[in-house]
Amino acid sequence: MDNPNKQIYVTQPCLPPLEEFLPYLQQIWDNKWLTNNGKLHQQLEKELAGYLGVKYISLFSNGTLALITALQALNVQGEVITTPFSFVATTHSLWWNKITPVFVDIEPDYLNLDPARIEAAITPRTTAIMPVHVYGNPCQVDEIQRIADKHGLRVIYDAAHAFGVKIDGESVLNWGDLSALSFHATKVYSTIEGGAIICHTEDMKHHIDNLKNFGFRGETIVEEPGINAKLNEVQAAYGLLQLKYVDGFIFKRKAITELYRKLLKGVRGLRFLSNMENVTQGFPYFPILIDEAEFGMSRDALYAKLKENDIFARRYFYPLISNFEPYRELSSAAPDNLPIATKIAEQVLCLPIYVELQESDIMRICHIIH
Ligand SMILES: Cc1ncc(COP(=O)(O)O)c(C=O)c1O
Repeated sequence: MDNPNKQIYVTQPCLPPLEEFLPYLQQIWDNKWLTNNGKLHQQLEKELAGYLGVKYISLFSNGTLALITALQALNVQGEVITTPFSFVATTHSLWWNKITPVFVDIEPDYLNLDPARIEAAITPRTTAIMPVHVYGNPCQVDEIQRIADKHGLRVIYDAAHAFGVKIDGESVLNWGDLSALSFHATKVYSTIEGGAIICHTEDMKHHIDNLKNFGFRGETIVEEPGINAKLNEVQAAYGLLQLKYVDGFIFKRKAITELYRKLLKGVRGLRFLSNMENVTQGFPYFPILIDEAEFGMSRDALYAKLKENDIFARRYFYPLISNFEPYRELSSAAPDNLPIATKIAEQVLCLPIYVELQESDIMRICHIIH
């Protein structure tokens, strides 16, 4: 029988069968090659490039270091236009490169950086745009590229949520100069901790590969002050197994999304994001937006109510990055400059979604919301 008091978290990793992992460990133990571009690392880069439909991929130890290195690889400086509605690592990656973030508001439909507001934020110091495909819904990539080309700006996508996302069958990761992915344990596809940069040329891949290995080119030459951001063989093995199962994971996530939509349809004051036409999704999150006046309860009250019932939803993304201590004094961080993001951050709640979430769990969650 279902346990009505079972604790349900916003996410839970789906591990591959242990018996399939053990032969990989045996291989690693036999070879005694643990990191530094090992065989499994190379195999994973090859398989992921094929799966994602991209030309070049460089694996990283996490998504944050991938973002930091992407900016370094393009020598981005000065000011970068970005969104306040994201995980804090997006802006931190700028800070670590001594770049000033310039926050621009989001659009209300998919909560991504609003291209219509970008040009007004460009100054002589602007060198790049760093948008985020929030919840895996692609940004308005063609419009962003048009603006970037017009003003000679780089585009680096934070694609942490965009694993497997395609527009008209083409990977969203092929847009922009570079895209950075996260393979953290909470993501649709995971290497426990991990990440990657997607790029378009072999030269750029070499450059990025060097940067993630202290800046070494060959044995004795250090060209740049690189970092250590390598993915090890044990995690690469985990990633190879995850890749085998990821289509099934996405299939299950889609079914969960559809069930939530069905059960929550018509609830007054509750909105969810609709499917984008022509987009293949990975269904990483299930966000809902609560209009307090219409719903009869605030988002925070609903969050607390769910918690009382052992359901741990998360307020992604609240507070806005622009409200955190390191960034709140920036002029672009003023709430007046970010009215939509400010409102959405008070309304948004991400409901539990993970492969092993049961239909009865979803019904229990929706029953409480009703
Ligand atoms: C939008 C976004 N950017 C960056 C990151 C950072 O990735 P990582 O945790 O792999 O460093 C995350 C998630 O963790 C994220 O959600």
